[in-house]
Amino acid sequence: MSSFLVSGGRTLTGETVCQGSKNSSLPILAACILNEHTVTLENIPEISDVEATLRILTFLGCKIRREGARVAVDASGVTGSDIPDGLMREMRSSVIFLGALLARTGRAALSAPGGCEIGLRPIDLHLEAMEKLGASVTDAAGRIECTAPQGLRGAVIRLSFPSVGATENIMISAALAAGQTRIHNAAREPEISDLADFLNAMGARVSGAGGSTVIVDGVKKLHGAAHSVIPDRIAGATLLAAGAVTGGRVRVKKLIPAHLEPVLDILERAGCDTEIRSDSVTLSAPAALKSVKTVRTMPYPGFPTDIQPPVTAVLCRAQGASVVIETIFENRYKYVGELTRFGAKIRVDGRVAVVEGVPRLYGANVLTPDLRGGAALTLAALAAEGESRIEDVRHIDRGYESLEHTLAALSADIRRID
Ligand code: EPZ
Repeated sequence: MSSFLVSGGRTLTGETVCQGSKNSSLPILAACILNEHTVTLENIPEISDVEATLRILTFLGCKIRREGARVAVDASGVTGSDIPDGLMREMRSSVIFLGALLARTGRAALSAPGGCEIGLRPIDLHLEAMEKLGASVTDAAGRIECTAPQGLRGAVIRLSFPSVGATENIMISAALAAGQTRIHNAAREPEISDLADFLNAMGARVSGAGGSTVIVDGVKKLHGAAHSVIPDRIAGATLLAAGAVTGGRVRVKKLIPAHLEPVLDILERAGCDTEIRSDSVTLSAPAALKSVKTVRTMPYPGFPTDIQPPVTAVLCRAQGASVVIETIFENRYKYVGELTRFGAKIRVDGRVAVVEGVPRLYGANVLTPDLRGGAALTLAALAAEGESRIEDVRHIDRGYESLEHTLAALSADIRRID
């Protein structure tokens, strides 16, 4: 098990390059299954969730060639349509393979992903949509099987919630379905538009992505393609938050500032100064951070739930009290107990956290509960006076590419120990 050792109290300064997007790479890699030709992907981050996805692709019969951030996937040899429990458990978002396998082979069998640290995370919207597209779905003893031997057919789908995963699964399945599919109340996250760009690069016909109605006109076949995934807006925002919580000045390059608008708005309200260029953001922290009346997580273009924990860590050092309301996941404050070990003052009541800023944080030994919670604890350790140890950072490795090296390049005193 790896841990981070941090000697805190240093001001972060310097510039760094943003990694490729985890939440774009995973559905795009799964969508490679739709294609009987080879696709080449660029800017794929070196994180453990990507490794887990590549293991599933290999298990299903794909040939993978990887050189750093470039991944070539040859799915001509796909034979399987079952994903064993062991592989599914490695990564909750493997449910994204449901649509791709069903569309490619006429069948998909996988174990229900079940809940994770941040919530129950049902997949009812995914399964209802597959039925609407003409599949028969059985869900027994934790094993889900979807079959559509005659292929899928287009349908009108109204999502009761703009679920990111369900929107992606429908887009992927509908790409090869007979006829047109219309998704109403679709998710609008930038990762949805990136997936649509990738599908269209392979010859699919997806329009309206980024808006709340997405239209997919099914095609018979796809062709080889090349695509570069978008920068990771959550990883980029985490690095800017690291600058804010340590009173520093950090420039993050190779990102799309428009994707971070809801986050930059909150950091500016906390007193940070931001300099926005075409593909970079420079954040300068104020002498003293200000509290923010209310931070409410919402589907895009609202404030993203994935940056809630790191931004809460920033607000721990603000003057005054801030209120954070988590509307997306029911259990996304697990990290708070660990954060209070640094001397933070936070009261949680259900989905509401009241954060009373404190002038100082002190080094502590903490345990990482989940991916974004781990990022929040790392930020607190950077700001804290003294030594801290962040245990079990494998959660952090799921979504951040060697975070300790990126932060050390911004003059943090952080290292990994096994
Ligand atoms: C994606 O998860 C992201 N994961 C999550 O990022 C992110 O937090 C989430 O979208 C919201 O932005 C990936 O892209 C791989 P949802 P997803 O379906 O698709 C409920 C991170 O830290 N719901 O939009 O699972 C669900 O329980 C991760 O990088 C149903 O009720 O999110 C949740 O409360 C964490 N039924 C809400 O909708 C369904 O069938 C949002 O879920 C589907 C979802």
